[in-house]
Amino acid sequence: MKRVTVLGATGSIGCNTADVMLRHPDKFSAFALVGHRNVNKMVELASALQPEWVVMTDAAAAAQIRGKLPAGVKLEDSMEAAIALSSASEVDMVMAAMVGSAGLPATLAAVQAGKRVGLANKECLVTAGRLFMNAATESGAEVVPVDSEHAAVHQCMQGHDRGSVTRVILTASGGPFRDRDPATLHAVTPAEAVAHPNWDMGAKISIDSATMINKALELIEARWLFDLSPDKLSAIIHPQSIVHAMVEYRDGSVLAQLAMPDMRMPIAYALQAEPRLATGMDWLDLAQTGSLSFQTVDHIRFPAMRLVQDVLGGEDSLSIAFNAANEVANAAFREQRIGFMQIVATVEQVLAKVENVPVGTLDEVWLHDGHARKLAHEVIAT
Ligand SMILES: NC(=O)c1ccc[n+]([C@@H]2O[C@H](COP(=O)([O-])OP(=O)(O)OC[C@H]3O[C@@H](n4cnc5c(N)ncnc54)[C@H](OP(=O)(O)O)[C@@H]3O)[C@@H](O)[C@H]2O)c1
Repeated sequence: MKRVTVLGATGSIGCNTADVMLRHPDKFSAFALVGHRNVNKMVELASALQPEWVVMTDAAAAAQIRGKLPAGVKLEDSMEAAIALSSASEVDMVMAAMVGSAGLPATLAAVQAGKRVGLANKECLVTAGRLFMNAATESGAEVVPVDSEHAAVHQCMQGHDRGSVTRVILTASGGPFRDRDPATLHAVTPAEAVAHPNWDMGAKISIDSATMINKALELIEARWLFDLSPDKLSAIIHPQSIVHAMVEYRDGSVLAQLAMPDMRMPIAYALQAEPRLATGMDWLDLAQTGSLSFQTVDHIRFPAMRLVQDVLGGEDSLSIAFNAANEVANAAFREQRIGFMQIVATVEQVLAKVENVPVGTLDEVWLHDGHARKLAHEVIAT
């Protein structure tokens, strides 16, 4: 029986993780469930999974949930508790599914403690990829990707020589605005941007998919996860979201991983790769799908994919700024303080103002992150 701490339990990935765990009660039990503000969802999850601990990192939400949890479930109310319950000796595995760089401290603590970590929270690799992967090497922690594209790459690399890889190709659906007239994109509303055609996800990542910043973040994530130089990383539009990624080898062979777009597949793979776990998702029926199509990413429609080339070619401070500015701009768009086109424009303006330097410590990461957030707020205010 593996004891699991789920960070971001109340979110989309967290709830899908609960779904997979509940299908395999003989294999997984919840040690700790960590949420932020969603009290109702946490009460529901705690009664289904009966964890030893519940943490609401928002103290007001913790006060609200008190008395509503099943008997015997212990409650904590801080990020410090989330960090402790991610690295505790009782934990076998941590599902890292908080959103944004807020997820970094607890996920890094799990890595430093040598846990198996299912990594959905790509922002922590984008922000501190070098530190994160060095910590995993030192502690022996196994970091298994939960992003469907990276889970696909992981599967396509199993049993193959890493040195023979010539290219990793991540697929992108192109989001809700793949075919929309670019001249009308300035008028997009948050509700339109959140409505992803293929995936049901949290609000922040859905908007990141609409701008394609999500794919840009994923390229940076792949760089660290698979130790790849930027020239080996690429993305291609694939509207059906059936092929999740491809790995090309020196001899011209290309391996692809296919599955229905359902996050329970990569979540199950991260929980236990072999033997495979049943997930309850629909079977892929390619005759029903009919055709799989691919097209080049248009950098005019999706300027984030142009910007990321400089970020990949630059030093750590650029990816920290790219992520931090996007978190600020994404939230501002959701709150209708800026328009859709201003999200990437804000990121671009922040990138033009920050240093391009290597970053060696977590303190430095937070300094660069804070500086980029401040610049993003300034850009938005002007
Ligand atoms: N959804 C997907 O299909 C998908 C696919 C690939 C990768 N990912 C990645 O997985 C991560 C989670 O995505 P999601 O779609 O599941 O997001 P989501 O539905 O918005 O859930 C986010 C989770 O993080 C918690 N949270 C929010 N702000 C927090 C803070 N300041 N401190 C601590 N916890 C906080 C939320 O708690 P409350 O709700 O309780 O406030 C919730 O549990 C993201 O990094 C995303 O890029 C998601």
